Amino acid sequence: MSVHAPEHKRVTTKTILSMKHTGEKIAMLTAYDFLTAKLLDEAGIDIILVGDSVANVFQGLETTVPVTLDEIIYHTKVVRRAVKRAMLVADMPFMSYQVNTEEAVRNCGRVLKESGAEAVKMEGGRRNEVLIRQLVEIGIPVMGHLGLTPQSIYKFGTYEVRAKDSAEAELLKEDARILSEAGVFATVLEKIPSDLAAEVTKSIRSATIGIGAGPGCDGQVLVVNDMLGMNEQFHPRFVRPYANLAKTMREAFQAYIGDVKDNTFPTDAEGY
Ligand code: KIV
Repeated sequence: MSVHAPEHKRVTTKTILSMKHTGEKIAMLTAYDFLTAKLLDEAGIDIILVGDSVANVFQGLETTVPVTLDEIIYHTKVVRRAVKRAMLVADMPFMSYQVNTEEAVRNCGRVLKESGAEAVKMEGGRRNEVLIRQLVEIGIPVMGHLGLTPQSIYKFGTYEVRAKDSAEAELLKEDARILSEAGVFATVLEKIPSDLAAEVTKSIRSATIGIGAGPGCDGQVLVVNDMLGMNEQFHPRFVRPYANLAKTMREAFQAYIGDVKDNTFPTDAEGY
């Protein structure tokens, strides 16, 4: 290996688009803290998203609506320190990009400059078209998010599957096309029928990343705490549990408490 060869070939928007082209699936997970992000990056994940799901799995909130721009910047900065290879995407929180294009551009710029994210993600279809064109032109890569968009929970009133009827499916297909032509490098498709996600995937040049959208997408994303089995109250069918950390952690905590109470921790060897 040449001394000039980079140790880690970084994942970029170009990598993601070429993965779509070659058919190599894109693996994406969320992270909000340094150690999780380090393990994910070392495991070879392609994209790490600092999602506004930080609300649900870190802050203990019911919806993503209250998350602030400063909180996203804080968590993204923390994750940035751990990530050497994966592409780092930051979620734009509710009301950080909806007021007007000027404010949205300024906020997206702040995220890139202050947090070290390499791209921003935003929920919504055609209403973001002008903004996306401007961001891409400036040099801020954008990931879209269609289908179930949790920031609109008070409008939908439920987290049920979206676009099951043909009218909403047609709107979603058109939104996906508009976002792709506006310049997004990828779009998250959340909780929509698998056939629709596969059709959208085939019809646009940018990548699709599914969550509860079936195997026909170019990639998949899950919330890291969910796939690790940390939330015993949350078992939607699209989350495959790859671990049962809730059980492992509870057992470890109980063992520690028992050892402290029994005075079997620490031993002499564990002291100085
Ligand atoms: O906030 C988040 O974690 C997300 C993913 C579920 C795509 O938007």
